[in-house]
Amino acid sequence: MEWAESTAEVFLSDALPRRWAHVQNVAARAGRLAPHLGEDGEILHVSAWLHDVGYAPPLAVSGFHPLDGALYLRTVDVPDRVVDLVALHSSASAEASALGLDGQMVGFVDERSLTRDLLWFVDMTIGPDGQCMDFEARMDDVRARYAPAHYVIQALDAGMAERRAAVARASEWIDSVGIADQV
Ligand SMILES: [Fe+2]
Repeated sequence: MEWAESTAEVFLSDALPRRWAHVQNVAARAGRLAPHLGEDGEILHVSAWLHDVGYAPPLAVSGFHPLDGALYLRTVDVPDRVVDLVALHSSASAEASALGLDGQMVGFVDERSLTRDLLWFVDMTIGPDGQCMDFEARMDDVRARYAPAHYVIQALDAGMAERRAAVARASEWIDSVGIADQV
């Protein structure tokens, strides 16, 4: 956990301070969910710290940040599940298809679990400056921040239904546990 936090800080805090604010708050939200997830709590929290590390300029090989982050994490000692969760977070698979990057995503496994849904949820409900946002507002904000030709916009609609469904399942679980006002 400490390694995940310090790695994210080293790669993002100076180079991309806004991204770092987002990541810190995504990780904080994951940390509030973690105690309710049993053994998977640590996987969620570590993945949240690392999910956007691929934006870091030294790691941005392909320019598609989920892939770049996962390729870096494959070179260090983290569980395979963390690598896969980062590679495929927040509908990265559908985005990769939309971008013609399918071939490079082969080998990453989408575990389609509650933990995966919760990672997508925390990413999709924390805005670019670290503020809490509901999912629809977050998607509107993404659309407003990037130029129409940017790959994020090109890929946004490809993953929208899957993203919305994951956030809905995560929200349902949070409500069922009775922790909506704590997370
Ligand atoms: Fe993110």
